[in-house]
Amino acid sequence: MSIRGKHVLLGVCGSIAAYKSAHLTRLLIKAGAKVQVVMTPDATNFITPLTLATLSDNPVLVDYFHPTSGEWNNHVHLALAADAVVVAPASANTLAKFAQGLCDNLLCAIYLSAKSPVFVAPAMDLDMWQHGSTRSNIDRLKAFGNHVIPPGEGPLASGLSGAGRLAEPEEILAFVEAHFSGGYPLAGKKALVTAGPTQEAIDPVRYIGNHSSGKMGYAIASTLTDLGADVTLVSGPTTLPAPPMVKRVSVISAAEMLQACLTHFPHADITVMSAAVADFTPKDAATQKIKKGNEHQLDLELVKTTDILATLGQQKRKGQVLVGFALETDDGRASAQDKLRRKNLDFIVLNSTRDKGAGFAGDSNKVTIIDQHNSIEEFDLKPKTEVAADICARIVGLINA
Ligand code: CTP
Repeated sequence: MSIRGKHVLLGVCGSIAAYKSAHLTRLLIKAGAKVQVVMTPDATNFITPLTLATLSDNPVLVDYFHPTSGEWNNHVHLALAADAVVVAPASANTLAKFAQGLCDNLLCAIYLSAKSPVFVAPAMDLDMWQHGSTRSNIDRLKAFGNHVIPPGEGPLASGLSGAGRLAEPEEILAFVEAHFSGGYPLAGKKALVTAGPTQEAIDPVRYIGNHSSGKMGYAIASTLTDLGADVTLVSGPTTLPAPPMVKRVSVISAAEMLQACLTHFPHADITVMSAAVADFTPKDAATQKIKKGNEHQLDLELVKTTDILATLGQQKRKGQVLVGFALETDDGRASAQDKLRRKNLDFIVLNSTRDKGAGFAGDSNKVTIIDQHNSIEEFDLKPKTEVAADICARIVGLINA
């Protein structure tokens, strides 16, 4: 099945990115879709209905009532006629209305009546995108089964730079096309990803932690989602926002991470353990803050945590793909190969702190992938998003094998 001949209802909201909806309309038409554009009243301040009507070869609808004839635009019929509703750009305001079920304009009423899949491509300023209200609206919309097409990162119209840019029209088209062709390579697959550090309590105000930022694991979770997987991200404490469409389970300690992984692993087709899990935890965390008093020394008694990855490796069923990481301070190949075997992994991603620009906190990484058959592939230093793409390409290969 393809998008050719499909009825796409394209919603356009009031956002400076509305100018991109002209290009998107053109791409949809070229791909063979029949396009009905519905604009919010504010969207008409950014791009004229005439432009979109001409490109879609169809009158553009804005109001419930036709301004001159008094006829009404039947939102139920419009919604039911659509094979897909695509809202691009979707403003923070419209997303909030969708999340709450408000219908004070035609587009919102169509959204509430739609039985077809709904795709929203958010576009807004960095701070609006990161605001707790928007995050929870996005989570709600995902929970209702809507598809969120992640915004890109880069310079924004406000002059700020970061996440919030409308996805490129080509990407939006690819998402919608993939839906019709069933073309996501990991569609129908469940993935479990761990990320970030763990914190092991010493007392109510102190902990043992590490420098992991979670960026690598978050990039993997995001990439797996883009490939169509249904991703649960078990995350230690980080400052990162949950990637769109990813279900995040927040944990603090290695013990909590173990429990969350044991819950989700049996259902996971793919598991990637990128978290930097503490190997040792205080034997007994003090219930009250430890006072320094006149002591010159404090001895902490530490006990080993459960190796989560090894535990999952023991439980692994045929067909489940299990990927681990190894962070080493030397070349580390022998040690990584040993971990691969001991933990029953399909492949291991080795990074060494010896490589400049690789490892924990930065935005780049340099990895070597070693698989069960001892094939070793060394990659260049690259952004973590691209490293995630390399790792996920391996996973797709294993799933298809
Ligand atoms: N890991 C885990 N549970 C632990 C420790 C590590 O699941 N308690 C996982 C990590 O998420 C990673 C892999 O095991 O995917 C390797 O972690 P690493 O710290 O490099 O190695 P360890 O197995 O802990 O061995 P060592 O500390 O001796 O290098």
